[in-house]
Amino acid sequence: MSLKSKVNSLIRTIADKVGGRGVMQQENNAKGEKFVFPGMPDKLLSAGTESAVLLKNNGVLPIAPGERVSVFGRCQNDYFYVGYGSGGDVKAPYAVSLMDGLKSRGVSLNTQLASDYAAWCAANPVDHGFWGHWPMCYPEMPLTANAVKRAAKSGTALVVIGRAAGEDRENKLEKGSYYLTDSEVNMLDLVTRYFKKVAVIMDCGNIIDMSWTLKYGDAIGAVVYAWQCGMESGSALADLLTGRANFSGRLADTIAVDYKDYPASGNFGNPDYNNYAEDIFVGYRYFETFGSSRVLYPFGFGLSYTDFKISETDFSFDGDIFSFCVNVKNCGGCAGKEVVQLYVCAPCGKLKKATKSLTAFAKTRLLKPGEEQSLKLSFNIYSVSSYDEDINAYVIEEGDYKFLTGSSVHSIAFERTQHIDGRVAERLSPICPVKRSFSLITGKTAKPAPSDLRERILKNLPGEIEAGGDRGYKLNDVRSGKITLDEFVSQLSCLELEALSRGQGYMNSELGVDGNAGAFGGIIPSLMEKGVAPVITTDGPAGIRIKEYTSLIPCGTALACTWNTELVGELTALIGQELRQHGSDVLLAPGMNIHRDVLCGRNFEYFSEDPLLTGKMAAAYVRGVQSAGVSACPKHFACNNQEVKRTKNDSRLTQRALREIYLKGFEICVKESEPMCIMTSYNKINGVWSHYNYDLATTVLRGEWGYRGCVMTDWWMQKASSPEFPKIRDNAYRVRAQVDVFMPGDFRRNARRYKSDGSLLKTLGKKDGITIGELQRTAENVLNLILKLGKEV
Ligand code: BGC
Repeated sequence: MSLKSKVNSLIRTIADKVGGRGVMQQENNAKGEKFVFPGMPDKLLSAGTESAVLLKNNGVLPIAPGERVSVFGRCQNDYFYVGYGSGGDVKAPYAVSLMDGLKSRGVSLNTQLASDYAAWCAANPVDHGFWGHWPMCYPEMPLTANAVKRAAKSGTALVVIGRAAGEDRENKLEKGSYYLTDSEVNMLDLVTRYFKKVAVIMDCGNIIDMSWTLKYGDAIGAVVYAWQCGMESGSALADLLTGRANFSGRLADTIAVDYKDYPASGNFGNPDYNNYAEDIFVGYRYFETFGSSRVLYPFGFGLSYTDFKISETDFSFDGDIFSFCVNVKNCGGCAGKEVVQLYVCAPCGKLKKATKSLTAFAKTRLLKPGEEQSLKLSFNIYSVSSYDEDINAYVIEEGDYKFLTGSSVHSIAFERTQHIDGRVAERLSPICPVKRSFSLITGKTAKPAPSDLRERILKNLPGEIEAGGDRGYKLNDVRSGKITLDEFVSQLSCLELEALSRGQGYMNSELGVDGNAGAFGGIIPSLMEKGVAPVITTDGPAGIRIKEYTSLIPCGTALACTWNTELVGELTALIGQELRQHGSDVLLAPGMNIHRDVLCGRNFEYFSEDPLLTGKMAAAYVRGVQSAGVSACPKHFACNNQEVKRTKNDSRLTQRALREIYLKGFEICVKESEPMCIMTSYNKINGVWSHYNYDLATTVLRGEWGYRGCVMTDWWMQKASSPEFPKIRDNAYRVRAQVDVFMPGDFRRNARRYKSDGSLLKTLGKKDGITIGELQRTAENVLNLILKLGKEV
């Protein structure tokens, strides 16, 4: 055994022992019945077929009935159904590989090749590694020219390329991660040499280098970005490849020619901080504004087996609301769905604008050939405003606004121009000031701004509820209307208030289902005696991550590529019911950080580079989950755009970029779906950790957006003292920000008493110290959640 393998094996043993953070990923060590949640397979099949994006097709697809198909690439069997980490690791009751899918659809397969792969995969099983050391790709079966030549007597070749990512690390600019491996290149070289009809399937959660499609040109007839679509991946894909279903997925991100073309690439992956020098020009906003020649596949793009015509039928603008009525006609030869996308090109006044920004979208139902559907796309004028940092306001600058409607950011069917008079749309207060200047790609400089945070916090300190001692009230008395929540809270001791602000201290709480992510709320006997139930949290975005069989759904990016909010809501409604059935209360999902850079290791969990698509998808996801009476928990609020040094890294950006890009999705989600919980991020924003960030959790979330839910930290947090109130540290710093719950916390019982780090109560009653009112406010945020959940002891 080499030294490296010895070290890895030691780490693996330790990781297995510590549990929680270290549990083996993807190993299906689930307990109980292989239960399939009713209605799930059908919904997953729809989501899978609507996720995959057809990037190229010269007629190779769909595969004709009876056509012999040779499938290359080990992922035909060892399919990546999802990525690794808390956004994966779901124990699915079954998972349909591409091979299983093709067989079940009666595709005529090259059986010799299929059995060669099956035998090789069995003899070379994949090693899923362990936390943070998962594979990014699997070793390929070596191929010789003779073997491929033999296989190529007739028919179509499918080549499957797989990649997986996972949290706590980034994708790398290396072969096997962002780039193809030598064996994958060899496989493509040989297959394109001997087969006339070649389709490549990308079984990936993240976007990887696709510039090889230029190199192979017409030798590759079709390319499908199939994503990772959970346990029905293979059936959905087989339906699409055989034409039983039609492609209707559209890219949620831009695919550029070269990594260096992406606007954040020069300022990504640094250990200490990243200057968001691209400012608001993220993804297609950058390519459309500064030159799009380096775009390989544009945002919103995706082919279909049929053609659509999009035309305008009506338009109105009443000074506040825009309404575009659009007609979509299926002009081709088979049934399909189209996505109508509406972009605004706002005039550049004092503020530079992106040439195109998505303002609305809608997807048709399945239209038969010749069939038409009218769609109405409406949005408020607020959607076309920009943030002016000089006056701390969203403004609409006077001028001609062009609205471009089409089927991708590059294919615009029609335009309309509307003159709008200038006005201030919303006045706000300055937040998260930049501390160190940096240059923006627009040639401007982001300059440090003064902060009046101390004054604002002191001015807005909550009032105190007079302590009344234990009067025997139970939480149920609030439920029944007998007493107010204030009256209930007036009886809570400091120990109880402290307990409500942090979890038990570990994952997999004995109070919840095996494999849960931790408990908070009623976690000490005196709270339980008062009728306060514990709240059980469970990961995550791709399904319920516990040690029982649960449904594995498509990753976040795949869901976004459906552009179908209704479908996403229907799917997550089932997940909500499933969560309830397993006795858990909070699903730690959706992940909704912006795809700032293609290398971010968690992009697969998140939706898109665009804030509107992200916000609408997240809102649909939350509405679905919460329709079952349980809570969703959108995360990671905010700017968790890289995994390297994620708990120390500082995201440095202008307030405009923060508001227009990185907070916008959360804003839409909060306003449209009222999540009961929100999770902060690990990183800092302009020098302040999100879990201590008063501006995020209080000024913006509660003050501006009217949020009434509970805010929790991401798992464990960094220690620090408040610059504004230097005596306030750690948990007091956090509670002052109104980040209510420290998860999984540190409130453990030793032989005699409950132990905490003491940081919350240390300054209570002292000058500038934490106040009873702040502790009670946090307690009410948590108790309100328990009331909404309807949880009783
Ligand atoms: C992740 C969260 C996850 C939590 C609990 C953290 O490492 O960042 O997204 O919900 O762990 O597993």
